[in-house]
This record gives sequence, structure tokens and C-alpha cells, in this order.
Amino acid sequence: MRTPIIAGNWKMNMNPTQTAEFVQAVKDQLPELSVVETVIAAPAVDLPALLENAQGSQLHVAAENCYFEDEGAFTGETSPKVLHEMGVDYVIIGHSERRDYFHETDEDINKKAHAIFKNEMTPIICCGESLEIREAGKAEEWVKGQIEAALKGLSADQVASLVIAYEPIWAIGTGKTATADQAEEICAVIRATVADLYDEETAANVRIQYGGSVKPANVKELMAKENIDGGLVGGASLQPESFLQLAHFND
Ligand code: PGA
Repeated sequence: MRTPIIAGNWKMNMNPTQTAEFVQAVKDQLPELSVVETVIAAPAVDLPALLENAQGSQLHVAAENCYFEDEGAFTGETSPKVLHEMGVDYVIIGHSERRDYFHETDEDINKKAHAIFKNEMTPIICCGESLEIREAGKAEEWVKGQIEAALKGLSADQVASLVIAYEPIWAIGTGKTATADQAEEICAVIRATVADLYDEETAANVRIQYGGSVKPANVKELMAKENIDGGLVGGASLQPESFLQLAHFND
């Protein structure tokens, strides 16, 4: 049984004061962890405020990125070791914005996945195709390749515990959600890819989110799909009311 997971991805939008206000507004109204797991991914500069305010609540905390080395001469990077020491639970890796604007490769993402597990956190691994790839009829093949590359060398137990977020690039921040059927189609391909690479049990356990213009109005339809276990939500996760509506999609 896969527990649904609703995660906000704040991107570069909040400061520590806004972070504290947001968490105070939602913390007592979140669903029980066993019913729906809720996560907020915040910029590194907001993580202390997020962790402090989320303490004792159901909310889990994610970083939006990290480096694959624990320490050293890597000016400007964030150590996964330190994220773990701070109390961070999840790290998003491979977001299309990081792949496109910051030239992150499949190899970097795989190294980061290993580093995150080494430091006892859980990766949320993003994948997804551009409009050009979709229109060329190559979306499935593309996403399959991204998943194979990201999971290289991970154990079945690790893969069973992680989260994959399918985010078609053309649907991110555009208001243009993939239809629930389009999202389900690729999420099913992702699960089948995990079954091919590992086994049916691992595939049955891995949680797969859809991301790309998820909002209170469409979350229920997406979550009703067999292979969609959660949402990775940008814009609609910035307001407490909207985040709470998403978290309570099932009420
Ligand atoms: P969006 O972003 O919900 O604003 O489309 C999703 C994401 O990039 O994770």
C-alpha cells in the first residue's frame, strides 16, 4: 500500500519569515502521516526556519537540491551530509529547471541519488519530456532513459523507498496540466521500467508523483489514477489554503 505524498516545491520564492508564517498556518491542519504524507521543499536559506517551525508536526522537509559530495572545495554548493544533520528528510533532484538552467546531467543526478541515500535521506527524482520530445512521439522512451540513468547502482530496497516525480516540462508553471490520462500513461511506463530493472515488488512500492500545474481543482482526478501516488506542486503550494486543499484531496 503506497501512502499518497503531496509535496510543495517552493522554488526560489519564499524568505524565512514567509516560511515561518506558512508553516504556522498549516501545521495543525495537515492530514495524518499514515493517510497523506505532506512535504515542503524549500530553498536552502529557508530550511532552518522550515525545520524549526515544522517540528512536532506531520510536515516533512525537503531540500530542492544538493551536491553529491559531503564536503570540500565546492563553492556555493549544499552538502547532503549537512542537510541530514539539520533534519531534512527528502531532497529533490533532477528537476527540469536544474537540468535546463544549471546543466545537470543524468550522471550528476545518479551521483546525487547515491549521496542522498548515503546520508540517510530520500531522493525525489524528477523526470519529464519537453514538448518537442512529446510531439516527436518519444516521451516514453525519453523518460525511461532518464529513470534508468538516475537509478543506476541503487539497490531494490533503495528504489522501493524513493519517490519519482513525472513532470512534463510543457506543463510546469504554464497552467497547462497534462490530462490525467496522459500523466497516468507515463507514470505507468515509469513503474514498468522499475519492474524491468528490479522486480514487481519494488515497482509496487515506489511512489510516483505527477507534477506540472497541479492545483486544488485537478488534484483529485490525477490522484484517482492507479499509478499516480502524489503531486509535486509549484505555484499552488505557495499559499497555505491551497496547500491544505491539495493535502486534503481525499476528504
Ligand atoms: P507548477 O510546478 O506546479 O508551478 O507547474 C511544478 C514543479 O515544477 O515542480
